[in-house]
Amino acid sequence: MADTDSRAGLRYADQGGLDFVSRVHASHDEGLAGAFDAPASEDMPAIMVGPSEGKLLELMVRLAGATKVVEIGTLAGYSAIRMARALPDGGHLWTFEYDPRHAEVARANIARAGLADRVDVMVGAALEQLPSIESHGPFDLVFVDADKGNYDNYGRWARAHLRPGGLLVGDNAYLFGKLMEESDTAAAMRRFHEETAEAFDSVCVPTPDGMVIGIKKVNGY
Ligand code: SAH
Ligand code: DHB
Ligand code: MG
Repeated sequence: MADTDSRAGLRYADQGGLDFVSRVHASHDEGLAGAFDAPASEDMPAIMVGPSEGKLLELMVRLAGATKVVEIGTLAGYSAIRMARALPDGGHLWTFEYDPRHAEVARANIARAGLADRVDVMVGAALEQLPSIESHGPFDLVFVDADKGNYDNYGRWARAHLRPGGLLVGDNAYLFGKLMEESDTAAAMRRFHEETAEAFDSVCVPTPDGMVIGIKKVNGY
């Protein structure tokens, strides 16, 4: 949007408008609704991506023709279901979740959505678990959405294990409004931005909390 206020951060999305565009472009069928509503009913934090960002992830998997996708942070499986649905037959998603209970809820939601055969929910701290899938690489898309203080490390992993032309996507790239604070987590998020911009052709889309999208350069590694 091209005016001074909106470039400075003002948003024109009111609740009614947000509801309308979610309904028109990004509505939920049963599988998605199950995962989107699970955090509230399962006493988990409701910190999944919004419907529009979820749909954007789905479109990106399709646009990239991705067959091998990695996700850091599963929660109840909402974004995983979005991305897994966009995979062609034979495609695969590896999604990493620290909390065993979240992983269990996610597995049930993913199975209910009919996607159990193409999704592996890997339990444990993602940085420790990632090496276990490296032999399946190189990957086509990596979505980072957990453990904000390690975004720089996840970005480096993605740079090393994405194919040239592969996509790196990072949610919460404004770090809940704390991106420019003096903290280790904010410094890690700023490094994630800077290092992504070096090795990827990238942008930070002004979603509510910012979403980095980068295409790995041919000489990105
Ligand atoms: N991508 C999900 C939301 C993820 S919320 C969606 O949009 O539907 C972040 C999740 O990451 C939480 O479930 C949290 O338990 C998990 N998490 C936190 N630290 C982690 C780590 N180091 N490794 C893997 N998962 C982690
Ligand atoms: C949190 C994590 C997220 O990925 C998000 O989109 C919102 C909140 C959190 O850890 O609080
Ligand atoms: Mg997030």
